[in-house]
Amino acid sequence: MLEHVRSRLREFGQEHLLRWWNELDDPALAALLASIDRVDFALLGQLFQQSKDAPAAAESLRQKARRATPPAGLIRQPRSTADKAEWQAARDCGAALLTAGRVGAILVAGGQGTRLDFPHPKGMFPIGPVSGKSLFQLLAEQLLARGRRAGVTIPYYIMTSDATHDETVDFFRTHNSFGLDPNDVRFFQQGSMPAVDATTGRVLLAGKGELSQSPDGHGGMLSALASSGLLDDMRKRGIESLYYHQVDNPLARVCDPEFLGFHSLRDADVSVKVVAKRLPREKMGVAVDVDGQTQIIEYSDLPDDVAAQRDDQGEIRFWAGSTAIHVFSRTFIQRLVDQRTDLPFHIARKQVSYLDDAGQVVMPATENAFKFERFIFDVLPLARKTLVVEADRETEFNPLKNKTGEFSPPDVQRSLMALHRSWLRVSGVDVADDVAVEINPLFALGPEDIAARLTDLRQIESALAGSQHGVHVTD
Ligand code: UD1
Repeated sequence: MLEHVRSRLREFGQEHLLRWWNELDDPALAALLASIDRVDFALLGQLFQQSKDAPAAAESLRQKARRATPPAGLIRQPRSTADKAEWQAARDCGAALLTAGRVGAILVAGGQGTRLDFPHPKGMFPIGPVSGKSLFQLLAEQLLARGRRAGVTIPYYIMTSDATHDETVDFFRTHNSFGLDPNDVRFFQQGSMPAVDATTGRVLLAGKGELSQSPDGHGGMLSALASSGLLDDMRKRGIESLYYHQVDNPLARVCDPEFLGFHSLRDADVSVKVVAKRLPREKMGVAVDVDGQTQIIEYSDLPDDVAAQRDDQGEIRFWAGSTAIHVFSRTFIQRLVDQRTDLPFHIARKQVSYLDDAGQVVMPATENAFKFERFIFDVLPLARKTLVVEADRETEFNPLKNKTGEFSPPDVQRSLMALHRSWLRVSGVDVADDVAVEINPLFALGPEDIAARLTDLRQIESALAGSQHGVHVTD
């Protein structure tokens, strides 16, 4: 076995991966051989070659960005009476889909969340401003509430990675799946990709018996869904539409009927929820049309001068920032899987610690490695029809990304509290700006639910009057 693996490695110039084999005990050696066996070295070689041609590839992306125009198939926030009627029709359609049990939800939670410096899966981060609830809990409770309202259960398909799987599954188990039926919470695990040295193309070792690996990007969802058999589960349950969201945005309106309804009424394969960017260089992908096809260009691929363009009214021309919230038609995902669609890899230069030839772990001072990721939004150009729907930024988008400043825990909590205060105010509850307020999703999913619970409002008012530390509005 060892000799067989060694000769395969020699073929690809990766023999160093077995350098420390005689220092490993049997289980550790077996684990190393198994992880080597899973690597597609031919693909890694091609990607390394591509990374050398990166300036040319970047240039072609830049050329593409220069041909981009604002998206044509677009539904903006409602302004006129006619718009409002259209949004109401979408809401009714989405509500009917939910009631008929046609909707499932996908949560991608495989990322490592390195920017936040939190040593656990990001979904475990305690973000509830009064309750201290985790991101996972706030999202799962919304799904539970949405299902109860429709009189159905909405299955939750949660993608994890090697980096997040065990802790995530444990977290859901110890919290009784936050009230969801465990049979309706289905975990599936995405793949990994090794990091390679940016000069030599050699796979980096994280330890004597361990390759340096990271999740293969949320685009890994396609093959992960295929190998998990969950597409069959979806089909058997009669799911037609999949609401897709990231783990970092507690303001996301999970399975909101309007978005689901527009997707269905417009017969789209994929829908993208966007919000207006505040700054030209904001770190968001932008929804654009290129050569007649809607797609998302990631912020890192958008040249500065294109990002800076303004329209006749002085507004940012490429304003449609992707919230990374989508609806996918199940049959579209099934088609991509059946056709064995390979999404392209995006190559990023990163600082990655590694085991050097002397067996010491080195933390390099500069970017020393390439990492490879697939992005799920690269399915857009493969869609028959893509729809872009604008959401209100203040009320639907403030993801947790950073340790400090914008998109940091205090910033996200501030926006959640502002949102929940505004819901109470619509119903005439007097809440001062400095009172910490958090509304349990099981109590209300929006202002309309608050208005329907007038007797509770009296109690909320007295709780607000007597509270020093904040109020968690809950059943
Ligand atoms: C992402 C989008 C960006 C969008 C922004 C909105 C990408 C590449 N970019 O940026 O266009 O405007 O969100 O907030 O997605 N994940 C996995 N597996 C992986 C990698 C990531 O499940 O292998 C998940 C993460 O757990 C997270 C999400 O994908 O839920 C976003 O990943 P992240 O790398 O944080 O993307 P951003 O740079 O924030």
